[in-house]
Amino acid sequence: MQQPLTLGIAGLGTVGAGLLHLLDHHKDRLEQRAGRRLSVAGVSARETAKDRGVKLDGVRWFDDPVALAGDPGISVFVELIGGAEGVAKAAVEAALKAGKHVVTANKALLAEHGVALAQLAEKHGVALNFEAAVAGGIPVVKTLRESLSANEVRRVYGILNGTCNYILTTMEDEHRSFEEVLKEAQARGYAEADPTFDIDGFDTAHKLAILTSLAFGTKIAFDQIYVEGIRSISEADIEAAEDMGYRIKLLGVATSAESGVEVRVNPAMVPKDSAIAEVSGVTNAVAIDADYCGSLLLIGAGAGARPTASAVASDILDIARGGVMPPFLTQTGSLKPYKKAKLGAHQGAYYVRLSVYDRPGAMAAIAKRMGDREVSIESIVQRRPRSALPGIGARLKPGAPALVVMITHETREEAIRQAVAAIEKDGKVSERPQVIRIEKLDGDDRQ
Ligand SMILES: NC(=O)c1ccc[n+]([C@@H]2O[C@H](COP(=O)([O-])OP(=O)(O)OC[C@H]3O[C@@H](n4cnc5c(N)ncnc54)[C@H](OP(=O)(O)O)[C@@H]3O)[C@@H](O)[C@H]2O)c1
Repeated sequence: MQQPLTLGIAGLGTVGAGLLHLLDHHKDRLEQRAGRRLSVAGVSARETAKDRGVKLDGVRWFDDPVALAGDPGISVFVELIGGAEGVAKAAVEAALKAGKHVVTANKALLAEHGVALAQLAEKHGVALNFEAAVAGGIPVVKTLRESLSANEVRRVYGILNGTCNYILTTMEDEHRSFEEVLKEAQARGYAEADPTFDIDGFDTAHKLAILTSLAFGTKIAFDQIYVEGIRSISEADIEAAEDMGYRIKLLGVATSAESGVEVRVNPAMVPKDSAIAEVSGVTNAVAIDADYCGSLLLIGAGAGARPTASAVASDILDIARGGVMPPFLTQTGSLKPYKKAKLGAHQGAYYVRLSVYDRPGAMAAIAKRMGDREVSIESIVQRRPRSALPGIGARLKPGAPALVVMITHETREEAIRQAVAAIEKDGKVSERPQVIRIEKLDGDDRQ
């Protein structure tokens, strides 16, 4: 047998403790597969006294993760602290500079500094593995980096945030408002006390930034991503989507377009009978369209101690077996600069919800604004919220704004945005119009 692989694990929270549990539970199995012993040589966290439910007897404790990263007693530094800056970044840099392999689950760190860290790893001939950083237990990094490495990827998209998917699914299933479901998700521990990062789409954007680089061979450009969250999604949108055969999902989408790569996070309508629409609750999904392989859809747990630990441990096994590959599939010197596609040129169908004042000529004026921008309407329906249906709740008051929902034929994004802005400016609507992209999926010929 070869020398044991010595691990330094920084961060003993959800993922760190999960990893220690897995390393202990599958000790023999892992060593058989690695062909060598895996030995935890040091750990680091903030509180020494905390009971983490895992065995730490005889393991060296480091108050400072940076000292652990540079310690001669370890050959792999496992960073499970989190955060794009501060101690996590300093420790990962220190480990790479000291010639240690690094395994991390830290999407924020990679989305902000991934290329610089990959350069350091290359320079020192060590691995930088991060399967757990995107969609937890779903093996999408390895799928792009290894299994699909001979393909040209055309699109990668998915449901990458369990909190948002839980909220949207519950709103639909239980006919409840965004605010109410968010509160419940916070109480159940599915959403943070400050949910901004999740519900405004930034967590999805971090993961999408990493996927985009892997899929298209471009430098990571987190700050170039168009990000829209789910705060504006109302019960009326969910109900209208359901009645029209769609479901609303927060998607991260990266598509190769003529003018560059279009990378966006936004709520999107997906056909109810599509596989991705079936992904409910906190579950995640990633779809990849590749030229030789065709379309793939991976569905699974995007977070949690066990799935995330599973991904981290598989990265450690790769290192134990001697595998070092370029972190972003190609050498960093060959990564192309990210060229942002013009979102205004995006072609697609759109859902538009308007609260129209009940005045003569209002609908004609709206139709004219759409026509002026050559937006053609596939369907237009005046709706009543379910709560206002007879027998369920109060009837709509005469003169109250009417809820009008339209589906457009395929059009340019800038055309629909201009038309909607003109309608708002005309003063025909009582609140900001809602516009939701309808995502075209493979095999969907409705558009
Ligand atoms: N949780 C998931 O399901 C999941 C899924 C995919 C990826 N990730 C990523 O995995 C990473 C860890 O997430 P987590 O959920 O396990 O976080 P967590 O439960 O909050 O754990 C963080 C750990 O880091 C330690 N820590 C914080 N600051 C430190 C410092 N200055 N020095 C030493 N240790 C420090 C904490 O110590 P104390 O315990 O002593 O406070 C804690 O053990 C993050 O990058 C996250 O994005 C998590």
